[in-house]
Amino acid sequence: MSTKKRVAVLLSGRGSNMEALLAAASSPEYPAEIVGVLSNNASARGLSTARARGIEAVCVPQKGFKSRAEHDAAVSEALSEFSPDIVCLAGYMRVLTADIVTAWAGRMINIHPSLLPAFPGLDTHRRALEMGVLIHGCSVHFVTEKTDDGPIIAQAAVPVLPEDDAETLGQRVLTAEHRLYPMALSLVARGEVRLEGDRTVFAGAGGSDPDQRLFSPSPEEMFRRQETDLEHLARFTP
Ligand code: GRF
Repeated sequence: MSTKKRVAVLLSGRGSNMEALLAAASSPEYPAEIVGVLSNNASARGLSTARARGIEAVCVPQKGFKSRAEHDAAVSEALSEFSPDIVCLAGYMRVLTADIVTAWAGRMINIHPSLLPAFPGLDTHRRALEMGVLIHGCSVHFVTEKTDDGPIIAQAAVPVLPEDDAETLGQRVLTAEHRLYPMALSLVARGEVRLEGDRTVFAGAGGSDPDQRLFSPSPEEMFRRQETDLEHLARFTP
């Protein structure tokens, strides 16, 4: 019997993060497999990509439901058909209600295109440029009731360059997302990261290794650079 964790992906659009997860999961050593994809949007490209790869992909449109809670109940039911151990939100553009979030507490994760807690919500790249930050990035976090707010699992930073617009910056962040999400999911699937109360707890080989949860700059790279800087400074110290 497979020991891989069963993962369902929730998305609303393009699905490039789902593709990154699928690519990672194609490796025999990867601790998770993508068993199903669910969308609220029938024309989401992610749905057709998943189907083309032989992954079961279903749509639960919100039309016809009286409330967000009713729609979420239908989403929950459709999700449980996949018997997932973990649910990954990957561009799911609907705020989830308390019931579904509570039901999946510690087993539902999301990727957000900013270094949380900065810039929760939409339009993160434009807002980052407007604020003049020099470092931007993406975060994977456990999903809690408050949108884009749960305990952080892993983050990747990218530089903001003077000539950037929201599109070029967004592309740089997306490239980082595609590295970060598979890494973060693997930590959760291996049990090296877990949610305890409202904190993320890191344990085991991967979880306690900061290089697995923080890249660009990776701590190792920073320390290496710091040592070189110190050596360089020492040459000028009388
Ligand atoms: C990503 O930027 C993700 O961080 C955000 O929505 C976008 C989804 O892109 N939550 P894709 O559908 O994975 O290509």
